[in-house]
Amino acid sequence: MTILDGKKVSNDIKNEIKAQVDKMIAKNEKVPHLAAVIVGNDGASLTYVGSKVRACERVGFESTMVRMSNTTSEIELLDKIEELNQNDDIDGFIIQLPLPPQINTQKVLMAVDPSKDVDGFHPENFGKMALDMSTFIPATPFGILELMERYGVETKGKHTVVIGRSHIVGRPMSILMGRKGFPGNSTVTLTHSHTKNITQITSQADIIISALGVPNFLKAEMVKDDVVIVDVGITRVPDDTTPKGYRITGDVDFENVSKKASYITPVPGGVGPMTIAMLLKNTLLAREQRM
Ligand code: GUN
Repeated sequence: MTILDGKKVSNDIKNEIKAQVDKMIAKNEKVPHLAAVIVGNDGASLTYVGSKVRACERVGFESTMVRMSNTTSEIELLDKIEELNQNDDIDGFIIQLPLPPQINTQKVLMAVDPSKDVDGFHPENFGKMALDMSTFIPATPFGILELMERYGVETKGKHTVVIGRSHIVGRPMSILMGRKGFPGNSTVTLTHSHTKNITQITSQADIIISALGVPNFLKAEMVKDDVVIVDVGITRVPDDTTPKGYRITGDVDFENVSKKASYITPVPGGVGPMTIAMLLKNTLLAREQRM
């Protein structure tokens, strides 16, 4: 069994990006600038955005965190987005999700200039991804592809089962794994809350990508020997023995499933750090496209 070590690979990627930034600085070029908009005070979202900003500093990017109150109106957020679209100094920006209920998420994501949409959530970019055109690939799926590529995980002709159909992970992942190329060329099954007898499906999978958000959902009895496991779950489970009072738990019963797996991502230290590294990669790409 091989651990797909997202922490290590993401550090490698950040070092590669840092080297590119150093070259930009040596040539007196503008360095990439990422902005992140966060609306409200959700603890997990603040943690993620904080990590994204710190990652920018680590590779030499400029970063701007835009904090807006929980009572922000849709118009106020759309105005902020327009400001970021027009701001020539900002190369890419993200709107951290989820948004408060008074705001229509689709409307907001459609307002982002596709050339600055480093999350790859705008329909234009999502459509390009589905059509194999060059574009910003959403960071979590992009990170999973990169992890599989760097470990040489064979995907061609394999049966990949994706659990969860979110717009951020499950849906794009199902498209990317079926694309021509590597990683890709898989036969993909996309499962969700209405899927019947999911164990029958997961037990036939060569590769399982779980993005459900239910701690320890995937058990050893549900998978076959030598399965490849990618665990995208990051649920905070109360735990009084930790300083923060919670621990991050994946969708997979790691202790038992890892005994059967050929490759498996840990939580934490698997997909999470890869997401941030690929957001940086998309931001570098955005800067290069604006030169
Ligand atoms: N919320 C959960 N994941 C993500 C992500 O990748 N990007 C943004 N903007 N919000 C998220």
